Amino acid sequence: MKHSEWWRSAVIYQVYVRSFSDSDGSGVGDLPGITRRLPALADLGVDALWLTPFYPSPMADGGYDVADYRDVEPSLGTLSDFDALVVQAHELGLKVIVDIVPNHTSDQHAWFQAALASPAGSPERARYIFRDGRGNPGDDGDEPPTDWHSNFGGSAWSRVADGQWYLHMFAPQQPDLDWTHPDVHAEFQSVLRFWLDRGVDGFRIDVAHGLAKNLAEPLPDLGAASVDKVMRYSVQDHPLWDRDDVHDIYREWRKVLDEYTPRRIAVAEAWVAPGRLGRYVRDDELHQAFNFPFLLTPWDCSAFADVIDASLDEAADVGAATTWVLSNHDVIRHATRYALPRDSDQAAWLMSDGTEPRVDQALGLRRARAAALLMLALPGSAYVFQGEELGLHEVADLPRDLLQDPTWERSGHRDKGRDGCRVPIPWEAEGPSLGFGPGQAWLPQPASWSGLARAVQRGDADSTLALYQATLRKRREFGGDGTLEWLERGPQRLVFRRQTGLICAVNFGPNPVGLPAGDVLITSGPLDSGRLPTDTAVWIRG
Ligand code: GLC
Repeated sequence: MKHSEWWRSAVIYQVYVRSFSDSDGSGVGDLPGITRRLPALADLGVDALWLTPFYPSPMADGGYDVADYRDVEPSLGTLSDFDALVVQAHELGLKVIVDIVPNHTSDQHAWFQAALASPAGSPERARYIFRDGRGNPGDDGDEPPTDWHSNFGGSAWSRVADGQWYLHMFAPQQPDLDWTHPDVHAEFQSVLRFWLDRGVDGFRIDVAHGLAKNLAEPLPDLGAASVDKVMRYSVQDHPLWDRDDVHDIYREWRKVLDEYTPRRIAVAEAWVAPGRLGRYVRDDELHQAFNFPFLLTPWDCSAFADVIDASLDEAADVGAATTWVLSNHDVIRHATRYALPRDSDQAAWLMSDGTEPRVDQALGLRRARAAALLMLALPGSAYVFQGEELGLHEVADLPRDLLQDPTWERSGHRDKGRDGCRVPIPWEAEGPSLGFGPGQAWLPQPASWSGLARAVQRGDADSTLALYQATLRKRREFGGDGTLEWLERGPQRLVFRRQTGLICAVNFGPNPVGLPAGDVLITSGPLDSGRLPTDTAVWIRG
């Protein structure tokens, strides 16, 4: 019964572990904190949660630098805290998806420490990508092997004491693994089993498009293409991203997942060129891939219509279900993005502490609420990033000395990075960290978040939290899988109908428009004399 598979229509809530709930007053969120708050997620009406990495880590990249894939970072809890979380989640009917980081390890991982302690050409170094520097024979090789840039800025190569260089497509503390090495394959299959045996329902695969690399000598320089970020690369047959042989890895992983009942799933974080995403969700590969083209779509009627059609077609071609996502821990929150001028330089805006230009927060929130109704009406599975259900904005004016994203240092303080969407979320109107924990939070919350706290919004039928809750409840009634039929696809209004009778209309234009016929179920904002105002969406039973 392929089409009754839960993930095809699941709403999956992303818990950024460090910023969700702090149980011990350390200032950093932890596993017992999450467990305590699970009833709030069940109450919200999501089907599953995705936990960002909670493994032992020096936190050079917020935990995406894993030192041990089979344990819990002591400051975040223990393995038994993890087990308790899974048991409690399952009791509440929530599935649990964990992050797996296979492109690179931490430089503190036992394998990398062994590689550093071993000579050039040793088997220990062969699991990573060590190369001699460039130069003529007899030179001391003090130029990196290629001109490749890391995603966080600067060279993608760092030099070790004996003069060799190793590749890191992210921070120097995140050495890339060599996926042509059999040990790497065996290790990750064993890591998958470790967490599957502990009861997880699936995995989110970090940098899923980066594992297979063309490392044939001589390694090519990439010129301008090497500064393309992982999120925006544009070169075909790139030696580093989205290579065809990466799919062999997912075919292996799928076999491991399929050994388990009930079914376990995997979702790919793959920033790939248009038309290439479907390859990750073929029948014998992964179950889902994040829909980043949707996330990157500006607030524009035809742009949304086009990306929706393209996404549905691409997934249908391989028999997979589409996913939808508006925000995550790597991008500026969409309540802010939708209020920034189109094509604005987001890094420059962050560098201005959010003053150039000043964002019209009411406008951004209105659009974000409409976008939620749009996303949750679409057939497929949806990802909700913690805090979007509270209508949170990006925090652009964090004190610079508190920034932790490696992008800040690696860019020479030209790019503040991603901390502004990672600020711990508010639970209560009062308290040193608004109910996040008993003490201060690792990043300070804006004073205005007191009014956005979950406890405050719970009592307000017009709140963004109430909107998400009502929408998620109704969504269950209509089902999440299937297809859609366009009733109107621009230039000002999007209207579509699902086979189950749900009609969703969104007004992107400047003036109020009429409503499709049927019973109004939910609106993202007040109607204007029975008409749908600008930047507003409606669900109708029709
Ligand atoms: C992914 C993660 C991001 C991390 C990077 C390196 O893009 O989402 O947060 O920095 O991989 O692991």
